[in-house]
Amino acid sequence: MATGWRELFFGPQPERAGMVEPLVPRRTFADVILPPSTRRQLDQALVQIKKHDMLFGDWGLGERHDTGLGLAFNFAGPPGTGKTICAEAIAHALGKRLLVVRYAELESQWAGMTSKNVSAVFEAAKEQDAVLFFDEADAIASRRFTQMDQGYQREANSVVNVLLREVEEFQGVVIFATNLAANFDPAFERRIRTHILFEMPGPEEREKIWRTQLHARKTPLAEDVDFRALAERYPGSGGDIKNAVLKAAQAAIAEPGEDADKRIGQRHFADAMEEVIGAKRVMDQSLFGAAAPNLPLPWNGDGAATPGDELRDDVSALAARLVEVEDTLVAIPEALQRLEGQRGEAQRRIEQLVASAEQDREGARSVIAQHQAAWERRLNLVLAASAVSIVLAVIAIALALVR
Ligand SMILES: Nc1ncnc2c1ncn2[C@@H]1O[C@H](COP(=O)(O)OP(=O)(O)OP(=O)(O)O)[C@@H](O)[C@H]1O
Ligand SMILES: [Mg+2]
Repeated sequence: MATGWRELFFGPQPERAGMVEPLVPRRTFADVILPPSTRRQLDQALVQIKKHDMLFGDWGLGERHDTGLGLAFNFAGPPGTGKTICAEAIAHALGKRLLVVRYAELESQWAGMTSKNVSAVFEAAKEQDAVLFFDEADAIASRRFTQMDQGYQREANSVVNVLLREVEEFQGVVIFATNLAANFDPAFERRIRTHILFEMPGPEEREKIWRTQLHARKTPLAEDVDFRALAERYPGSGGDIKNAVLKAAQAAIAEPGEDADKRIGQRHFADAMEEVIGAKRVMDQSLFGAAAPNLPLPWNGDGAATPGDELRDDVSALAARLVEVEDTLVAIPEALQRLEGQRGEAQRRIEQLVASAEQDREGARSVIAQHQAAWERRLNLVLAASAVSIVLAVIAIALALVR
């Protein structure tokens, strides 16, 4: 809860308030070992980003489409599959900073302030031309409540609404990462251009990950170390391997004997991996065990539909419908404004026509008046000429009579 009265008066200040953590990316794609399909999707994402300006600038598509120009990506997959490192590697490949959003600081106890903070972090990313990263994004982009009796429900829905709008309008790169993609709001999913599935590594990848977790020259290894065997025996994630390597090294260094003789052996790695997998099992049981509902995890489903699935689909369809209604409602004022504009334009045209008809009438009146005056002048001339002729004739007759 970062916000205080200061932000209420001066507006959110993301970096100062710790809502985003700026990170100069160090890890690159060379540090990540990925299954081929994940790698391919990431390569395509990078091409999309790099060619974005050409597509929407040089090729003119930006002038035809004013929304959805941003580059929003969702990295979805089980824990420890490299989503966070890949966000860093993307920022590194683009030569940009990574702004990692911190939810604890983003959330405010003041009504409406969390939504403002969401907008502020997008603004900060825009100003700094940084890649914005929402790690564990299901925390913020989860489904909206379909009932809004409570203040917190309205607040949560308004945060998602603002997030949707910002994603739609943001023109930079924003990456979301989640291992609970099923919790995402369906409207949010639709607005994200590309979803990249981070799969669990296979034996080939695991063998390479084991090696990347050690220093090629400095880490002392015993002769018996066989990474291929470890990779084949333990189907863990990259994160599991990292934890196992650290545990194995700690166990090896803690053994009695001369430091110079100490080595990490196969049994250290194997014991550490057993421990990591055992700990995960405990966690899975407490989180997803018999007492807990069968939470939808896309990577461990057996494909069979449960009553919960149906309910979830209904709620999801309802939420999607609500979003459509909301979108329509949002579009109404715009349509009204357009109609108002058209009415104003029609009114202006009518006034112009009336004015020009008035002008024409005035013109016609003055032409008639001119003609009338000319005719009157001619008539007067004729009358004057006739009067002179009569007078002259009378004088001539009178003279003739006198003679
Ligand atoms: N594909 C990989 N290649 C190399 N190392 C990996 C890979 N995946 C994970 N690791 C190692 O595991 C650590 C944790 O990975 P990372 O934090 O990227 O996983 P994540 O998918 O973001 O997990 P979470 O869902 O728990 O946030 C990394 O720092 C790295 O050392
Ligand atoms: Mg992560």
